[in-house]
Amino acid sequence: MIGKADTLILFGATGDLAQRMLLPSLCALDADELLHPDLRIIGTARSAMEVQEFRNFARAAIEKHLPDHRRGGMADFLNRLSYQTLDVTKPEGYAELAEKVGADKQVAIFLSTAPSLFQPTIKGLASNGLADENSRICLEKPLGTDLESSCAINDAVASAFSEDRIFRIDHYLGKETVQNLIALRFANILFEPLWNAQHIEHVQITVAETVGLESRVSFYDDAGALRDMVQNHMLQLLALFAMEPPTDFNPTAVRDEKVKVLRSLRAIDAKETVTGQYRSGASGGEIVPGYDEELGKDSDTETFVAIKAHLDNWRWKGVPFYMRTGKRLHERVSEIVVHFRCIPHSIFPGAKVVPNKLVIGIQPEEDITLSLMTKVPGIEQDGMTLREVPLNIAMPDAFTGKHKRIAYERLLLDLVAGDQTLFVRRDEVEAQWNWVDGIRATWEKEGLTPKTYNAGSWGPSAAIALAERDGVTWHE
Ligand code: BG6
Repeated sequence: MIGKADTLILFGATGDLAQRMLLPSLCALDADELLHPDLRIIGTARSAMEVQEFRNFARAAIEKHLPDHRRGGMADFLNRLSYQTLDVTKPEGYAELAEKVGADKQVAIFLSTAPSLFQPTIKGLASNGLADENSRICLEKPLGTDLESSCAINDAVASAFSEDRIFRIDHYLGKETVQNLIALRFANILFEPLWNAQHIEHVQITVAETVGLESRVSFYDDAGALRDMVQNHMLQLLALFAMEPPTDFNPTAVRDEKVKVLRSLRAIDAKETVTGQYRSGASGGEIVPGYDEELGKDSDTETFVAIKAHLDNWRWKGVPFYMRTGKRLHERVSEIVVHFRCIPHSIFPGAKVVPNKLVIGIQPEEDITLSLMTKVPGIEQDGMTLREVPLNIAMPDAFTGKHKRIAYERLLLDLVAGDQTLFVRRDEVEAQWNWVDGIRATWEKEGLTPKTYNAGSWGPSAAIALAERDGVTWHE
């Protein structure tokens, strides 16, 4: 670990991410006294602003995006903030920024700007002594649009920062429930012996959203669901779910295990994927327009993708991982559903024994539910009647008094502390792109275009068929 930073610089400090996530997260951490008292935060952006204007801007963003009870005495937090006007493509401004930082400071730099600006930013930082062994850098997605562009970004960053100083964000790793997956697997003796192809029949990973394009029209149309959600969040969920036990909970051990999973992803056949694009329909009680209407033109970009994935390794050989994600789906739900195998032999003639199922809720419900077969109470003369009942851990009930945190709170704290465990290493990102590029190449070769689905549904019917032809029903 590289130790704690005294200064945090936010590039893109007036942007959408800063307003919705970064400033509110930092304020919440401050309110909970989790930021060390000396940490200073310098915002930079192109707009010319005085410090007080930036503080007012931050206050407005926090009031809009952070619940009242999490804000604490906001004045102390706002006093940590200063501001530097900076056009990252021009040399002016960096020297003043360096002066604001001062000598002998440990600096954490968060780039929440377009990746096309990473290169000039790094150049500006390097020529002003802000990319040396006292600095670490944090990057937001999208890190490229394919393996080649991702390597170019990674090379540019690596020209100034060593890998132990590069913090790549996948905000899913900051979610409590995603970290809880690690606790569930490795702090219990119960599951690990069953966590393999011998006992698990298949796994489903769903990340369903009800939102549509929101205000991200041009970004999304160039990305699509595969690159926007599968390449990063869903593959990270898969990696944490499927990895071997790390020797320790440290950055190298955890990421070594994740990358092995990502490298064992089998190249996908076009028949094992379904893509879709939403048309108008009813979502959240209102009629919403179709993707093409929101976009204002026809497009072949997928807003839904379902994939039957395989991991070619000893533990998971033969276990399908059905993954699906999409916009404007029936409900907002992210979960992992583990379907165990049937018991090898039933001693209950005439009774249906349903295989056990473990549902790990990620959002909005954070429950963990294990379905078990039990005897229906009563006196029967010709054998027991069995029924599936849920053993349910409702996380919010188990931990009353603990408030829900923004995923970025954990990640910003780790960035400042210098802990990379919940950040993505270069080899992981590249293994992710490698697999995703293969899928896109297959789509292109086969001329696959998205099937339509109505907003408010669970995606195109072909996605249901993808699972049904293996006798699998999506968990809904
Ligand atoms: C982002 C994607 O990375 O994750 C968005 O770009 C998506 O399209 C978002 O809506 C989902 O995040 P969450 O935390 O709301 O599940």
